[in-house]
Amino acid sequence: MANSKYEYVKREFEFDRSLPASNWIVVRIDGCHFHRFSEIHDFEKPNDESALRLMNACATSMLEKFRDMVFAYGVSDEYSFFFREGTEFYQRRESKILSLCVSFFTSVYVMKWKDFFPSKELKEPPYFDGRVVCYPNLKTIRDYMAWRQVDCHTNNQYNTCFWMLVKSGRTEKEAQQTLKGTFSKDKNELLLQQFQINYDDEPAIFRKGSCVYRAKVETKVKSDDHGNPITRTQSVTTVANIDIIGPQFWETHQDILHEVGTEKCKYELVKKFDTIHRLPRCNWTIVRINACQFDQFSLIHTLDKPNDETALRLMNASASLVMEWFPDIIFGYGFNNEYSFVFQEKTELYQRQESLILSSCLTYFTSVYVTMWKEFFPKKELLQLPHFEAEILCYPKPKIICDYLSWRQAECHRTNQYNTCFWMLVKSGKDKSEAHEILKGTLSKDKNELLFQRFQMNYNNEPAMFRKGSCAYRQKVEEFTKVGDSENVTRERWDMTVAHVDMKPGFWRKHPYIFNQCHSV
Ligand code: GTP
Ligand code: MG
Repeated sequence: MANSKYEYVKREFEFDRSLPASNWIVVRIDGCHFHRFSEIHDFEKPNDESALRLMNACATSMLEKFRDMVFAYGVSDEYSFFFREGTEFYQRRESKILSLCVSFFTSVYVMKWKDFFPSKELKEPPYFDGRVVCYPNLKTIRDYMAWRQVDCHTNNQYNTCFWMLVKSGRTEKEAQQTLKGTFSKDKNELLLQQFQINYDDEPAIFRKGSCVYRAKVETKVKSDDHGNPITRTQSVTTVANIDIIGPQFWETHQDILHEVGTEKCKYELVKKFDTIHRLPRCNWTIVRINACQFDQFSLIHTLDKPNDETALRLMNASASLVMEWFPDIIFGYGFNNEYSFVFQEKTELYQRQESLILSSCLTYFTSVYVTMWKEFFPKKELLQLPHFEAEILCYPKPKIICDYLSWRQAECHRTNQYNTCFWMLVKSGKDKSEAHEILKGTLSKDKNELLFQRFQMNYNNEPAMFRKGSCAYRQKVEEFTKVGDSENVTRERWDMTVAHVDMKPGFWRKHPYIFNQCHSV
């Protein structure tokens, strides 16, 4: 069936993150508000064995349902599920994997509630939050498990002491006070001395949490003609309350965290690491370029302080060439050593691939800057290569783009006013720290006053390029009619213009074509 005209809302807006290849995928779910849930269902404190067994039953169902899940570890109201490293479960789509795990687990929890609490009504629907984390190698996945099991031990030891103290008549506050600052061995001591409890004799399900995995079991299927048993290895989903921090369990169960062998490592796998980020649809994109180590660069090339007009003109000329090369750039704004380029909303440049747009725009700028240096500074050799950094920003509305540009222009004003004062003070004989001190805490009008009083300078008479920065955009410069043999042809010519003006609403109203639909700004 043909796609409807509405189908683009899925195709162009839905980005389902694919989890990186060759990583173990862990989904950790955690009961929401189980403090309250355990209270209203009267769970035993600190551990309710039925509640824990119910969690384990849910985890067992998970492993039976999802073949690529190789292990699960649970404690209290949380459970971690481990997918094998090379799983292609739902093409490793994060939202599918996460949502299926939490929802299936929750369903089983509700379904099996009656089996574990036959005389307790389920008073509120249980629900769980979940997250997905990827671990790239055996060490990190094993460390993740160890982290959870250490947490289980610490919490359980504390809770065991706490509830023993409370049950023996202390208030909760007193119990807390008694345990404050105690170490693990102090708590064991306390249990032994005050309650004759050997912590190590507590049920392993409380102390170690629960592991669920498929164990290989030899089972007799039938007997041969001589009465000898014929066995088959079966995999049986097993729950065990054992140590997973040390190596022992993993040495005897090497198949669980089996790494994909190199023999299977085809080129296809390598390609899966190449994640492509595309810019979201219906967004205007800004590439902002910024010269690195410009202080040093301007020192080496003896650029004028605080503004070198020629250097700024070179920036503008480079920006204009960038905009001529990339027709999808509708606007440029630059000051000092930075330039922002606004790409039109519907650009299809590099199929909107973020890194390609950013790098091509950045390197084209760098390239023309270096090429044109001689033209602008015929007497200055380029002693150090300029280099620029760039970042990419996305804004869904022209209004926000205009606000972004106003922000940069305000920044231009602020830094230029400061620098003008600073360098006037320095040129008049103050040292740099003195100049900074004088300007500390001054407002805009104080700086204007300072320039006027000390140097008879009216800041507003300073060149507009310094005060307002530079706006680069296309302007219709000519429209003429060419009379052909039989018809009139209208031609338009759009030239790049650089203007040093305020980007206030009046400017956008005068140039509505820049955004096409920016009239309402
Ligand atoms: P969120 O997860 O942030 O929604 O809060 P939560 O209330 O679920 O707290 P958290 O997950 O940090 O801790 C789990 C809580 O569940 C514990 O603090 C206990 O109150 C409760 N809980 C979990 N297992 C048991 C149990 O076996 N017995 C009792 N009495 N309470 C339990
Ligand atoms: Mg919880």
